[in-house]
Amino acid sequence: MNAPEAVYETSLKGLALKTRGKVRDIYEIDDSLMLIVTTDRISAFDVVLSDPIPGKGRVLTALSNFWFDRLRGAVQNHLCPAIRLDHIVSDESERAQLRGRAIVVKKLRPLPIEAIVRGYLAGSAWKEYQTSGIVCGIKLPAHLPQAGKLPETLFTPSTKADIGDHDRSISIEQTAALIGKDLGEQIRAVSLELYARAADYARQRGIIIADTKFEFGLDQAGALYWIDEALTPDSSRFWPADQYRTGISPPSFDKQFVRDYLESLRWNKRPPAPRLPAAVIAKTAEKYREAERRLTG
Ligand SMILES: Nc1ncnc2c1ncn2[C@@H]1O[C@H](COP(=O)(O)OP(=O)(O)OP(=O)(O)O)[C@@H](O)[C@H]1O
Ligand SMILES: [Mg+2]
Repeated sequence: MNAPEAVYETSLKGLALKTRGKVRDIYEIDDSLMLIVTTDRISAFDVVLSDPIPGKGRVLTALSNFWFDRLRGAVQNHLCPAIRLDHIVSDESERAQLRGRAIVVKKLRPLPIEAIVRGYLAGSAWKEYQTSGIVCGIKLPAHLPQAGKLPETLFTPSTKADIGDHDRSISIEQTAALIGKDLGEQIRAVSLELYARAADYARQRGIIIADTKFEFGLDQAGALYWIDEALTPDSSRFWPADQYRTGISPPSFDKQFVRDYLESLRWNKRPPAPRLPAAVIAKTAEKYREAERRLTG
C-alpha cells in the first residue's frame, strides 16, 4: 500500500496566490472565479500545526462536495463544477497534486458571521450553560446534561475572528446590526434547514451531527450563496451514534486525538505548536476517512 503523500502547502506556477487560510490555499483565476485548494494542514486551538494529516484535504473536499450537491435544493452554493481543472492548471504534476482537493468557485463577498447551528449541548455552549443556564442569549431549561439533545435546535451566530483571535458569539440583534435584519433572518432559516436535512441523513448513517458552522457570501447582485466548506469534521462535531451517551463529551470524528495529545503536554497554545507523534497523525487520518466512508460510502 502506498500512503498518499501529504500536501502541506501549494504553490502553483500559473496562478496568483490570493490568500492562505489555516487550511486552504486560495488562487485567483479571474475577476469572478477562484481556485480553492484544501491542503492537509490541521489547526488546533487556532494554531496551525507543522505536521500535516495525509489525505485530510481530500476528505474535506469530498464531504463538502457531497453535501453541497445533496442539499442544493435548500440554497445555491459557490461551486462551479463545469469548469475543469485542466483548463485552469496546465502543469500535469501540479494537477496530480491538486486532484480531489481543488475546487473552482465563484468569488463572492463573505458575510462577516459564522452561522452556527446546535442540536446538542456541547463545547462552548455546554460551558456557557453550566455557568448561566443561557446559551448565546437563549435561556434553556434547567438540568440539561452534557451532550444532551436540545429541546429546540439553536442558531447561535458568531463573528469571524481575525487570525490569531477566537470567534465570539453574538446575539440576533448584533447579527442584524452587522448584516441587516432580513439577511440575518434568511441565514437563520437556511442554516436551520441545512442542519435539519443533514442531521437526518447522517443519523441513518450512524452519525450524530451535534453542531456545525456554515459560511455564506453574496454576489454582486446581492444573491445569497453557501460558501467555504460543508458539514465536515473541521466545521462540525460528528459523534458515532453507537457510542453516544449524555454526561460525557462523546468521542468525535475530528481532531480530538490531536487536541487530547496536545492537552497532555505542557504547551501554552501559542505558536509554535509541538510536533505530533506518528501514531496520533495516523489515528487522526483514519478518523477523517471513517467519517467520509460512513457518510458517503
Ligand atoms: N466562494 C468564496 N468566495 C470568497 N471567499 C470564500 C469563498 N469560499 C470560502 N471563502 C473564504 O476562504 C477562506 C477559507 O480558508 P480557510 O478554511 O483556510 O480559512 P480560515 O478561516 O483561516 O480557517 P478556519 O476555517 O480554520 O477558521 C475563508 O476565509 C472563507 O471565508
Ligand atoms: Mg475555514
